[in-house]
Amino acid sequence: MSFDQDKAPVFEASMQYAERRPAYFCVPGHRYENGTGTLLREYAGDNIFKIDITETGITDDLHCPSGAIKEAQELAAALWGADWTFFLVNGSTCGNQAMILSALKPSESILVAGNSHRSVNSALILSGAKPVYIMPEYISDWGIYGGIGPEEAEKMFRLHPECRAMIVTSPSYYGIVSDIRALAEICHRHGALLLVDEAHGTHCYFSAQLPEGALACGADMCVQSLHKTGGALTQSSLLHVKSSRTDIDMVRKSLQIVQSSSPSYILLNSIDTARRDLALHGRDMMRNAFELASLAREKINAIPGMRCAGRELEGTASVFRFDETRLVISASQMGITGFDLKTRLFEEYNVEVEMADRRNFLAIVSYANSREDIDRLVSALERIAKDHPQERPLKELTDPPKQTFCAITPREAFFAGKKTVSWEEAEGCISAEMIDLSPPGIPLIRPGEIFSREILDYLKQIRLAGGLIQGLPDDTMEKVTVIA
Ligand SMILES: Cc1ncc(COP(=O)(O)O)c(C=O)c1O
Repeated sequence: MSFDQDKAPVFEASMQYAERRPAYFCVPGHRYENGTGTLLREYAGDNIFKIDITETGITDDLHCPSGAIKEAQELAAALWGADWTFFLVNGSTCGNQAMILSALKPSESILVAGNSHRSVNSALILSGAKPVYIMPEYISDWGIYGGIGPEEAEKMFRLHPECRAMIVTSPSYYGIVSDIRALAEICHRHGALLLVDEAHGTHCYFSAQLPEGALACGADMCVQSLHKTGGALTQSSLLHVKSSRTDIDMVRKSLQIVQSSSPSYILLNSIDTARRDLALHGRDMMRNAFELASLAREKINAIPGMRCAGRELEGTASVFRFDETRLVISASQMGITGFDLKTRLFEEYNVEVEMADRRNFLAIVSYANSREDIDRLVSALERIAKDHPQERPLKELTDPPKQTFCAITPREAFFAGKKTVSWEEAEGCISAEMIDLSPPGIPLIRPGEIFSREILDYLKQIRLAGGLIQGLPDDTMEKVTVIA
């Protein structure tokens, strides 16, 4: 079957509808541009509101596509190499939920990477599936998680042959890619599905210089935030299926549960037109991202006291590949935290970066960045390094504890009675919350797991070091929420 990637079926249908402009007695009630918020209309212009329309004979129906949306999804599937692709208007969040809902029955077991995003936890709450956590390795030198090792996966499947699926995040926020091909082989040998949260990996499919995408490596399903690195508007994402092991009908039904019954046509148009651009120009776009990031990395590594991670991470801590468009930057040798750097970059130099942890900050370079953006980031870092008095390196922290023990499922924890207790009283109690260290890098404990002394000591260490802890009940940072 040949695919004309120059087409944009949803956009063409929306244009046709906007031109026809019937007297409108449906939702949304603003009636094209007429009744929208005045301030927004003055700022944004009229056209965007003309395509904020609904399911019609011309514009098709996301939940039961037979026309423009069906064709647009088929074009996306062909581009990313999937058997089926579904457009998502509620981010990879709903994609992770649909993957897990469709793959497992309540109380079936799934191997879950311990550094999974919160949406995976929400998927476990919705589905009632039973997680067995598999921890990625830890890169002590950078204070970030590495990949999920194939040997560890094999070991976990032998210990838990009841697992019907495994979900891993690859690339991670920090650009760490696991060996998906090896993980897929292991999962399939054990009769399990491999689900990949590829929220940060849409762009990888368009450059040989970037890690290979999960679909090409044997993943059964993956989700991608097209808005993160593929040029679509926020919340626009994709769920791809490439597998005869997946129940496609269950995927559809699951999406009907987690997606709005009034999907935004602005977002659907955004997905469709971003797909077209990637198909026509994706290789040039990603070459630009790669070259800008490489230039930035080289210059940052030349600043005394600063460093930027790169492909030297590969082959350590189960890092199979590293996505070089991620700039993980540290000035810890100069005693500056990632949090301070992020704040100073914004407040003093008007440079905004994605996130920070205690040791590093993360800048994401996209195809749409310019050489000037890179120069501004690099020269701000040069100035910070020059002005900074020589200080002692940041104190090294111990690695986060690896041991986890899941006493009840996230779903049971979600519905259980809860109470708050002091850290001292928490040892041996079951956590009711996910506690993250610095957004959104390191979930230290997940709902349903038992607080060990090691975990509590680690939390204290982070608090003393000025780290950010999310998931505590109040600002005192002295209590945790546990199952009553
Ligand atoms: C690894 C990972 N998975 C899933 C998500 C959720 O993606 P979305 O924002 O598209 O819902 C995020 C969001 O940051 C993420 O980092």
